[in-house]
Amino acid sequence: MKAYELAMGVLKALSEAKEARGMISVVNAHVSGISYMNLGDYGLEFLEDLAATGEKVRVPTSSNPCGMDRELWREQGIGEDFAAKQARVNAALERMGMAPTYSCTFPYEGQWSLKLKPGDHVAWAESSAVVYGNSVLGIRSNREGGPSALFSAITGLTPNYGMHLDENRKPTVLVKVEQPIPRGPLEWGLLGKKIGDLGEKAKVPYIDGLGRIATKGELKALSAALATFGPTDMFLAPHISPEASEEPPKLEEVTIDGRDLEEESRDALDKAVSGETPRAFFVGCPQYGVEELVYMARLLSDVKRVKGDLFVYTSRHALSDQAGFEAVRSLREKGVKVFSDTCPVFSPAPSFSGGVMTDSVKSSFYMPQSKNVRPTLEPTVVSFMLASGELEGR
Ligand code: F3S
Repeated sequence: MKAYELAMGVLKALSEAKEARGMISVVNAHVSGISYMNLGDYGLEFLEDLAATGEKVRVPTSSNPCGMDRELWREQGIGEDFAAKQARVNAALERMGMAPTYSCTFPYEGQWSLKLKPGDHVAWAESSAVVYGNSVLGIRSNREGGPSALFSAITGLTPNYGMHLDENRKPTVLVKVEQPIPRGPLEWGLLGKKIGDLGEKAKVPYIDGLGRIATKGELKALSAALATFGPTDMFLAPHISPEASEEPPKLEEVTIDGRDLEEESRDALDKAVSGETPRAFFVGCPQYGVEELVYMARLLSDVKRVKGDLFVYTSRHALSDQAGFEAVRSLREKGVKVFSDTCPVFSPAPSFSGGVMTDSVKSSFYMPQSKNVRPTLEPTVVSFMLASGELEGR
């Protein structure tokens, strides 16, 4: 069977199962689940067979992180066999015309995002990007699986249901965040987890009380945690979401006290301080963008050398920016291990078997499953490293 027919067949079946209103065209697609760690040999063979049909993607298509940094995989600790298999996965995807972005933030931070307009339909398979895109950019995407996004890439179409329809983009619950406003990726991630834990009623939460200014890192952490812990594909927040009214909706109200988030974050810090110091630290889940890289480089400006293992995960598009490139150069000079194309959770290396500390609530959910390691959550990884002598001052 030709790849196009296979793709259309699967999308039609999905459309029927979801009682979709036919198919709609997508502006672009984003494929996930492409680490050889997830795919194994069967997945690799499937992709190679698909690529061998000569079929190409019909819309611009980007790819999620793979299992290794394509240039620094040896430094990352990836074995030859894994690297060879991952390279075959990537080659198959690229033969089909996929852009070698290997990033979970590319859909909303990469070059193509500049052309997106509110209301554009896309087919993205990275859940954190779906929440960010629907909520902050106003694009329309369901939380696609790796295969359905791939089949949308091949056909340029997606079933018209769920987040593509106006009626499913209305708020379902009013979440009031009481002062203080959460600060930093860990507190925004904890907020996302609390809302996600509300279950079905939090399908489209209207979040009131977040203030007017949020950093990119905070919005990414909130989106990633909402997608990880609940059914949420979109949130609405005044001054953040193009589709959010200024006036809170009259709906069932749930209150989240900012002090609880602060306290949980402080508890995480206390646990981190009182427990055994892990052997490694990472940030960049979701992958760091330019803003976060520059901030990290500034935080470490007085540090001469990083003694412990500090990993930063970022993307090629952030590295292609002058400020991002300079920040990464300065971090690497100090001994920070900066990797792109890959992610800490779906890469076999490093194994973090000696424990790891992070500010990413999403990774604390997935890493026990993917690597049998439960990361220690900590609000300010760099401050912790400074206090515990992991960083050497000038
Ligand atoms: Fe991205 Fe990997 Fe985290 S795909 S969101 S860095 S689990």
